[in-house]
Amino acid sequence: MKSEWHIVSNERIAERVFRMILRGDTAGIAPGQFVEVLVPGCYLRRPLSVGDVTDDRLTLIYKMVGEGTARMAQMSSGQTLDILTGLGHGYDLTKAGEQVLLIGGGVGVPPLMYAAKELRAAGKHVQVVMGFNSKGEVFGEDTFRAMGCEVTVCTMDGSYGTRGVVTDVLPTPTPFYYACGPMPMIKAILRTAGTNGQISMEERMGCGVGLCMGCTIETTEGFQRVCKEGPVFNAGALKV
Ligand SMILES: Cc1cc2nc3c(=O)[nH]c(=O)nc-3n(C[C@H](O)[C@H](O)[C@H](O)COP(=O)(O)OP(=O)(O)OC[C@H]3O[C@@H](n4cnc5c(N)ncnc54)[C@H](O)[C@@H]3O)c2cc1C
Ligand code: FES
Repeated sequence: MKSEWHIVSNERIAERVFRMILRGDTAGIAPGQFVEVLVPGCYLRRPLSVGDVTDDRLTLIYKMVGEGTARMAQMSSGQTLDILTGLGHGYDLTKAGEQVLLIGGGVGVPPLMYAAKELRAAGKHVQVVMGFNSKGEVFGEDTFRAMGCEVTVCTMDGSYGTRGVVTDVLPTPTPFYYACGPMPMIKAILRTAGTNGQISMEERMGCGVGLCMGCTIETTEGFQRVCKEGPVFNAGALKV
């Protein structure tokens, strides 16, 4: 659904990472879905995961990497954005057992925040393992802890939490997991934790709504569009 959103706040929460809270029509937005933001001055919309929904507030957490996200970082409360919501298939939270594992890397963490909130509301025990390059990039730890999740943070350079990568600290046996992160992390999760989980894939997108085929990936069910059949796939379906 395309609608106008009012920026409530837009603040830096870590190195090059911002949290934007917007007010608008949040009806039907599910964990693991994404939105497409039309940034003023940019031709293509930018896909961003839903970080949280509370009443009429939508939270987006984004890393400033290029023109679109740099422009977003300059915006402030009072301004508006044209956003398409309700995009893609999110996490199927009914697959979770009583113990659930969330695995996130960098800006793959935001979709897990909304999932964690829903899983905790359903009474699940939620363990979160997050990986970042270094201390300055870490965000979200307090949010997960405030929800009552058990949290482990890893940094590649050891400047915060455990030195190393997420797959160094995954619990065994690994409960059903929900994951999102860069491709090397996803490959490592599949090798280490197996396929009893769901993974949100981040592919470069054109249209974002299933028309251009620019975001297809190979799965056990043939080529599928990340923006339409995904972004969340059963881990066992991925050919990465
Ligand atoms: C389903 C999905 C969810 C995402 N969720 C988040 C999130 O929650 N937080 C976050 O920081 N980032 C997220 N990303 C990545 C984010 O879309 C890109 O970082 C962003 O589009 C970069 O835009 P830019 O204009 O700053 O960069 P530029 O490099 O200038 O962008 C140029 C073009 O490439 C596209 N593009 C560039 N990088 C990516 C990428 N990694 N994925 C898809 N398209 C890209 C842009 O949309 C734009 O059309 C997500 C991507 C996808 C596909
Ligand atoms: S981005 Fe166009 S089909 Fe997915």
